[in-house]
Amino acid sequence: MEKLQREIFEQFEQYGQEQVFCFWNELNDDERFSLCRQAARIDIGRLAGIIDTLLKKKASEVLPPIAVPYVPASYIGLPLDETSRCRWEDAYHLGEEILNAGRVAILTAAGGQGTRLGFEGPKGTFAVTPVKGKSLFQIFAEKVRFAEKRYGNPIHWFIMTSDRTHNETIEFFGKNNSFGLSNIHFIKQGSLAAVTAEGKIMLEDKWHIAMHPDGHGGAFKAFVNSGANAMLAGQGVDVVSYCQIDNPLAPIIDPYFIGFHEKNHAQISSRMILKAYPEEKVGVFCSIYGHSAVVEYSDLPVELAIKRDPNGALRFKTGNAGIHLFNRDFFGSLGTEMNGFLLPLHAARKKIPTIDGNGNPVDPETPNGIKFEIFIFDASQFAERSIIVEGNRREIFSPIKNSFGLDSPETCRQDQVRLFSKWLVAAGSDIPIDAKGLPPFNIEISPLFADNERDFLAKWSLLEKRPAISAGSYVA
Ligand code: UTP
Repeated sequence: MEKLQREIFEQFEQYGQEQVFCFWNELNDDERFSLCRQAARIDIGRLAGIIDTLLKKKASEVLPPIAVPYVPASYIGLPLDETSRCRWEDAYHLGEEILNAGRVAILTAAGGQGTRLGFEGPKGTFAVTPVKGKSLFQIFAEKVRFAEKRYGNPIHWFIMTSDRTHNETIEFFGKNNSFGLSNIHFIKQGSLAAVTAEGKIMLEDKWHIAMHPDGHGGAFKAFVNSGANAMLAGQGVDVVSYCQIDNPLAPIIDPYFIGFHEKNHAQISSRMILKAYPEEKVGVFCSIYGHSAVVEYSDLPVELAIKRDPNGALRFKTGNAGIHLFNRDFFGSLGTEMNGFLLPLHAARKKIPTIDGNGNPVDPETPNGIKFEIFIFDASQFAERSIIVEGNRREIFSPIKNSFGLDSPETCRQDQVRLFSKWLVAAGSDIPIDAKGLPPFNIEISPLFADNERDFLAKWSLLEKRPAISAGSYVA
């Protein structure tokens, strides 16, 4: 052990990271062991390379900024006339064929830290539905069960966890008997160390390095390393439906979207929603030198973010909903050792709980460090064929990011009730609705009954006895 310790010390010293062991003399044997084990897992050479590339470029090495020729990306819009309605209908039937053939698996990113929500525990365990208070994981599980029944095939559901969420997630599913599903797989993403603006690795406490999951783009490697890619290849599954656990409205099995993806032989298809307001914190689909890319809201120059077309619409209006379909081979190719590193890491300033020079905890109110993350949507830059398909924002997008205000549990509750009310009204129900589309009470429709308006209307119309809808109604 002593030899190993010495080697780790030397390595960290060689890269100017010896501060990681600054409390060594105060640690007991267990704490020393724990710190060494964590340090040994860090690829310190790779991290040094990342720090050099992203943080330490000398002024002379930094290229002068060039004006990137952003052009709004083109997309398949919602069906507004007879011709496009026919196109969408064709896509729907094609999508159903693919689902009936069992060619689709689901991957849900649930490894994030949920810092802004401030909830202890994996975000997937957070209770969100208006009447039953179901967790995000349960909603997704019910969507999968609904799809398995509808298409008569078992569907593999991969849940990406991280060191931060893995054990608790597995425990949660165990306690809930996996919500009746038998094809769930937990795949763990990688972690990276957080650093200061000067590139120094940060400590979470005296014997723990401040680690964070490597971004939702960590899914590519996790997918390959876990054996998921090989397993699905052997079973003829060639479409990966990707979504994020924080958006309970995400249509994780959508025949329309799957049909468009197939018809266009796309390697990646992405769902877009119209931005709600110019500064909304969502990435925007652009075309750069003819190539599709998502530009993060923080990277889009503000003059472009607010620019309007002559008709008054935002010029860059196509928000990224975080919902994608991937060709499985393409997905796997981005996760192999050789190709995985093609995907760039991004440096983001974040609030990172740490300790001061005396070992006292510091809970920062403003960003104090840097996290490095891979983004799932960067895949589109490497695709030869990609498409973007519009989704109705009210039907597919209501992420929970913050504890209150925008994108919070409260806005998400309202969005769910509004959506369920819309389906009921479309089915002829006379529930009272205000100008915002909301009834004066909570209602809930289980994904086990229906997960979208089309299925809801079909099923509702077949009910012999339709339930009266009032405060607290739950349709299952
Ligand atoms: P966000 O970037 O919004 O992060 O992730 P978050 O963890 O939900 O919240 P903050 O930023 O810490 O407040 C969008 C989705 O991607 C997943 C998250 O779980 C969420 O579903 N994600 C994010 C991962 O699976 N891994 C990551 O490393 C990052």
